[in-house]
Amino acid sequence: MPLIRAGGPADLTEIRAIQAASPEASQWDPLGYLRYDLRVLVEDDGSILGFAVSRQTAPDECELLNLAVAPAFRRRGMARQLVQSIVESLQTTAGISVFLEVRESNLRARAFYNAMNFQEVTIRPNYYDQPPESAIVMKFHSC
Ligand SMILES: CC(C)(COP(=O)(O)OP(=O)(O)OC[C@H]1O[C@@H](n2cnc3c(N)ncnc32)[C@H](O)[C@@H]1OP(=O)(O)O)[C@@H](O)C(=O)NCCC(=O)NCCS
Repeated sequence: MPLIRAGGPADLTEIRAIQAASPEASQWDPLGYLRYDLRVLVEDDGSILGFAVSRQTAPDECELLNLAVAPAFRRRGMARQLVQSIVESLQTTAGISVFLEVRESNLRARAFYNAMNFQEVTIRPNYYDQPPESAIVMKFHSC
């Protein structure tokens, strides 16, 4: 049963490989993730199956910066576990909000976030480059 733990410098090689195998994810240098809340989903043998990077922007609010699951392990509830773990760690009695941006063309991720009860709140035209594309801003509110 995969478990979630904080990610650290020793995990960056595996995170880099999962990110490279996930071209729809943001392709940032994983070294920078150590400045934020980095969570990894770890198999019994210690291998990393997925990761999530977020940053808290207010006591009851955070931004999901990046999320990816190794292709061979998708559709097994891994990303759901990662997002739930972020929500649970911030949860207050008044609820919390999670914001994110996703490429308009990333229909798999949008389907995932919809399944996680995120709502599409606005569109940011030409938000991305390489290739240029609009971002859909999505928000989840727990209570
Ligand atoms: C998006 C992503 C993180 C989802 O990870 P995952 O571990 O496969 O997602 P889960 O198994 O937790 O999915 C939970 C639910 O989301 C929905 N969902 C997930 N992937 C989906 C897909 N490809 N198509 C339609 N619905 C999908 C389903 O409702 C799913 O439940 P089900 O499998 O019981 O039907 C994964 O596809 C990925 O790494 N994509 C590449 C990177 C990326 O796009 N990151 C997002 C950047 S904003």
